[in-house]
Amino acid sequence: MTNELYAVVGNPISHSKSPRIHSLFACQTGELVEYTAIQAPIDEFSGTVRHFFERGGKGLNVTVPFKEQAWTLADHRTTRAEKAGAANTLYLDQENELVADNTDGVGIVRDLQNNHGVALKGLKVLVLGAGGAARGVIGPILAEQPAALTIANRTVAKAEALVRLFAKDAGATVLSASGFEAPDQPFDLIINGTSASLQGDLPPVSANVIGPATVVYDMMYSLQTTTFNQWALDNGARRVHDGLGMLVEQAAESFFVWRGVRPETAPVIEELRTD
Ligand code: ATR
Repeated sequence: MTNELYAVVGNPISHSKSPRIHSLFACQTGELVEYTAIQAPIDEFSGTVRHFFERGGKGLNVTVPFKEQAWTLADHRTTRAEKAGAANTLYLDQENELVADNTDGVGIVRDLQNNHGVALKGLKVLVLGAGGAARGVIGPILAEQPAALTIANRTVAKAEALVRLFAKDAGATVLSASGFEAPDQPFDLIINGTSASLQGDLPPVSANVIGPATVVYDMMYSLQTTTFNQWALDNGARRVHDGLGMLVEQAAESFFVWRGVRPETAPVIEELRTD
């Protein structure tokens, strides 16, 4: 039996941990998977995808800056991808039509709940940012029925647009939008979904959002404590977590979508931490 071909597409891509994660999953489960990284030219995403599937590829992960294009390109979208407005997982269905899925939101929820013991039900949650990364996690977070979810963003209109988009999914959750200055009370959970850390910047949110019980989650990850998490620790947060677990959990969900087999994530997260 030959290996079936999967890959992650992005630009740049050389730093991607996905090939390592998926080869660890393949070893662990015995699935015949070969997983590579493809750098698509910035203006050639759709051609790269077409070519990959034409030569027999089975599934793609999509990363920066192509997640919105992947969503647009697909013939069909899963419900969670539809709502996320972006796709990180592509495959062909039985009619050979391109399906877009999004496993990022499930990834953060599983990391919080299974790996860090943070059950979202009933919590007061603050999400910082209203771009693609933040939008991708709102639906799966609301599905866990937090008591309140505030989306704070530099451009308030974008946070307000997300509140309108997700109003129907909120159920009993009090869903609201604001700028960074407005939230002035401690939250149970704060998720940084801005790209500010990429430039070493902090979203200018009041330190009053952190109390002694606050758990902070930065969707970014790095070897050192991220800028945002360091700020949270300096201001008394109980615990901080970075996005490495989310990365492994979204990969596990993609693997499950493609293969119908769910890998164990804990040993893989452990392995990546010590790489
Ligand atoms: P991504 O796909 O990573 O979410 P994006 O869609 O460009 O990227 O969104 C980036 C998010 O980070 C936005 O919420 C952006 O705020 P604006 O909507 O006001 O642009 C936020 N962001 C980026 N740089 C920031 C900074 N230096 N301070 C605060 N917020 C920042």
